Amino acid sequence: MPEVTIYNLHSKTIHCKSKTEKLLDILLSETDWMHACGMKGRCTTCTAVILEGHDNLSELSEAELRFIKLGRLGENQRLSCQCKVSGDVVIKTPELYKLPHLEYSE
Ligand code: FES
Repeated sequence: MPEVTIYNLHSKTIHCKSKTEKLLDILLSETDWMHACGMKGRCTTCTAVILEGHDNLSELSEAELRFIKLGRLGENQRLSCQCKVSGDVVIKTPELYKLPHLEYSE
């Protein structure tokens, strides 16, 4: 099964249960990750910076395309509540959405 590694959270690695899980569900199974709109694709607080494994994520959703057009979702960024993971990925938390109670390694 795929693995998700969070580079700037001490390279914490989470093992997926299937190849159809949303990235945010995988993250929340073992850590905390911001998701202000409740996974509805209406904010960008669940953004993950993709360092490796772009091809192992599902196609961009309508919400992601909308935020890209608005300039609020950058290259190499995905909304973790919108994309499904089919293979290994390495991600990091954007500076803007780091949570104060977690200790990041970078
Ligand atoms: S939680 Fe708001 S877009 Fe993902």
